[in-house]
Amino acid sequence: MTIGTKSVLFGAHQFLLHPIMIAVAWLRLFGPPLDPRLWFAFFLHDIGYIGCTDMDGASGERHPERGARVMRVLFGDKWGEFTLLHSRSYARACGRPVSQLCLADKLATAITPAWLYLPLACLTGEIGEYMRNTSTQHDDHFCSTIGARTGDVGVWFEELRDFNHLWIERSRNAAVSPAARGLNQESPSADRLSAPACGVVNFQPSFSEACGTRRCM
Ligand SMILES: [Fe+2]
Ligand SMILES: [Fe+2]
Repeated sequence: MTIGTKSVLFGAHQFLLHPIMIAVAWLRLFGPPLDPRLWFAFFLHDIGYIGCTDMDGASGERHPERGARVMRVLFGDKWGEFTLLHSRSYARACGRPVSQLCLADKLATAITPAWLYLPLACLTGEIGEYMRNTSTQHDDHFCSTIGARTGDVGVWFEELRDFNHLWIERSRNAAVSPAARGLNQESPSADRLSAPACGVVNFQPSFSEACGTRRCM
């Protein structure tokens, strides 16, 4: 079983826990997630991790594509894009702002209790990759100055949570895609999502090169 599959089944992206935490995060950030299409996005956005041989490398960094394809088939291009752009590194490679789903995704991690998150991430082994990838500074990515270097997962998680909270505050207004902006209203409607599709089909296979640097988290 690959690490991506483990993460979805019983790890940091557990298929029930993670979407529920995203729903809580969405509630805090944008109000009640009343549109059922949001819930589909919550539950589908990370299904692309299934079968991935890493979380942040060449395999895992394209994980938004599968969920986006499903959302596109179910609800149209704009919802596909909303799902696709939940990943900071993917959005950056597309040259697009992240969707609001990204903010909720990051807040979901920040509000998940350490006693719940850490055992799951340790059980799958994914935390090793996360800590390795966050031990060096890249652009505005999260960089663990203490936890990753000392191997203290508790400290690392605290640093990650603090970073996510700060990043969400910084990005809340400026870094939200036009596609998601329509969802930040009382009655979200895909018809109001006016941004052109990012173009999953046309996305270049050399994703890491497009990113420039490996994302931290
Ligand atoms: Fe994701
Ligand atoms: Fe996620």
